[in-house]
Amino acid sequence: MVTITDVTQLEGREGGIFVPTMGALHDGHGSLIRDAARLRDAETAAGGQRRDVVVSIFVNRTQFNDPADYARYPKTLDADLAICKACGADVVFVPEHETVYPPGQMVAVPALPAAARLPRLEDALRPGHFEGVCQVVRRLFELVRPARAIFGEKDWQQLVVISAMTADLGLGVEIIPGPTIREFDGLAMSSRNRFLTASERVTASALWRALRAAGAEATPERGEAAMADLVRGAGLEIQYAAVRDAQTLGPVAAGRPARALIACRLGAVRLIDNAPWPTD
Ligand code: PAF
Repeated sequence: MVTITDVTQLEGREGGIFVPTMGALHDGHGSLIRDAARLRDAETAAGGQRRDVVVSIFVNRTQFNDPADYARYPKTLDADLAICKACGADVVFVPEHETVYPPGQMVAVPALPAAARLPRLEDALRPGHFEGVCQVVRRLFELVRPARAIFGEKDWQQLVVISAMTADLGLGVEIIPGPTIREFDGLAMSSRNRFLTASERVTASALWRALRAAGAEATPERGEAAMADLVRGAGLEIQYAAVRDAQTLGPVAAGRPARALIACRLGAVRLIDNAPWPTD
């Protein structure tokens, strides 16, 4: 595995399988890197050209709407590199801010797909967040030039928005979803979980219980109410609890996959999660 900061060292490595991250890696990221490595190894074993698994570590300032959140984002580079290596990465790209956003050069903010602009979900609570995400992902694609990129289902709305942006702009990168990895009690792994106190950590598993409760309800409205009741009862401050079309994030439509999505605040920490919502 090589660690590079200089973009010229990416030359000749295009066409790889890309896992973009902001560092503070945990086993959820590890799982995405292992998925990429499995894909690489299966293709190589089948006689294909060996493709690099490229992980990027870059804390992207433009997607934080709260400067305090950006300032306290954990930086754990040595541990991150150990995880990348153990999970089978070939290249870890750790660019400087100036490499991603060269001084004096405009890095375009793509027009956001419709799914990024829906009321009652992330965009309403984090204005500018998806603009920053799309801006950096498009720029990283330009620098890394991957054939495929893996994004975790944990950030479902991000996955939908990036898939739509990549298709809208014809970026030629296949977007592959990676499953959410959970703790023993169902809490989705997240870089922010480390900020929970011991008692908050116990309470936080209510999000998973809420998603499961929603799945037991027969209508989206009842699913939303069940989630809200459960997390409020556990003492969390609810930001949204919604059942939406899994691809458009609009209202649930008969015969199409649906997703339950939830966001809550617990002390100083914001938690999000989602799960498939059964439709027949
Ligand atoms: O999901 C993340 O860690 C970030 O939003 C991403 C996709 C790496 C862009 O900064």
